[in-house]
Amino acid sequence: MPINNRIAAMQPEMEVWRRDLHTHPELRFQEHRTAAQVAKLLAGWGIEVHTGIATTGVVGVLRGNGASGRSIGLRADMDALPMTEATGLPYASTTPGVMHACGHDGHTTMLLGAAKYLAETRNFDGTVHFIFQPAEEGGAGAKVMMDEGLFTRFPCDSVYGMHNDPSLPIGEADIRDDVMMAAADGFTVIVRGKGGHAARPHGGIDPIVVGAQIVGALQTIVARRVDPLESAVISTTQFHAGTAGNVIPDEAMLNGTVRTLNPAVRDLVEATMRRVVEATAAAHDAVAELTYQRGYPPTVNHAENARLAARICAGILGEGKVRRDMPPVMGAEDFSYMLLEKPGAYIKLGQAAGTKGRAPVHTVQYDFNDDLLPIGASFFAGIVEQELKRG
Ligand code: NI
Repeated sequence: MPINNRIAAMQPEMEVWRRDLHTHPELRFQEHRTAAQVAKLLAGWGIEVHTGIATTGVVGVLRGNGASGRSIGLRADMDALPMTEATGLPYASTTPGVMHACGHDGHTTMLLGAAKYLAETRNFDGTVHFIFQPAEEGGAGAKVMMDEGLFTRFPCDSVYGMHNDPSLPIGEADIRDDVMMAAADGFTVIVRGKGGHAARPHGGIDPIVVGAQIVGALQTIVARRVDPLESAVISTTQFHAGTAGNVIPDEAMLNGTVRTLNPAVRDLVEATMRRVVEATAAAHDAVAELTYQRGYPPTVNHAENARLAARICAGILGEGKVRRDMPPVMGAEDFSYMLLEKPGAYIKLGQAAGTKGRAPVHTVQYDFNDDLLPIGASFFAGIVEQELKRG
């Protein structure tokens, strides 16, 4: 199928929903208005609605024709970012300091479009769960919904999610059979030395010099310990110490982020960081302590589901428009938690067209390209009609 005709005809309506969400962005776990809009629309199409999962998460349940007992989960994220929009668009955010800068307004709308279409047509055999999650941006809303029994209450044989991609032309998709995005971990290092007069360094232990060596030494982990054919990033993004130009402080604090694609590399980096931090400090009679917080796991597609998703996208966009070999990116995504528990796939849909849809996500100029709405909705609908095909 190319873009589903009925869904294409829904574009003006979808634009209205999307722009309304864009004007009223909400931060993680505060998506009350968004969730209410979603619930109202779903209920209006006769879809069973469950709210209040992970505070603001919504699940719509739609049963098709037939009695196959099969089920599928389609997921969209609803949260915005703490940024001040600078697009100047007529429907720009009216909430100070909050902005839909990652297109989650578009993702929510695409899933709503698919829900409306599927509720009208019901040309599938099984149950669809429309999962609208809070807090993708750093709040692990997907995991919180799962911890609150998402897949027990709403069993899913498979799950699918998507993200817009301003770096890819509209009409193209990026679908790998394996890892799509990185694991994102955080770290903090406290270096404890001994403060003193800056003119008498030998009387103290300078935590700034030790901290600076740690920053450099951490880079050697990526350069010398990780297989060059694997990927890892260690970025030290904060270094705080001291209060005066002539005083050596007692302590320094560093923190940052670690990104990896492969679980074995993740383990190696964490363990090596700990040794490097502690031993570098010990070499100078200082003490340093690493706190390593594991965040989102890598987003890893299941090959069979990725192949199905690629077939559906090729049907919509045309053969040759589905990129199967793009490198993964070192960003992260909490749909990864769902893919750890269920077979499924996460895809990226291009949205750049001329000057439209080109601003990168998480920038103040970003806007979701509404021309992607029927493509995304057709994808979700196509996955359902294919995977829950009537016998
Ligand atoms: Ni996003």
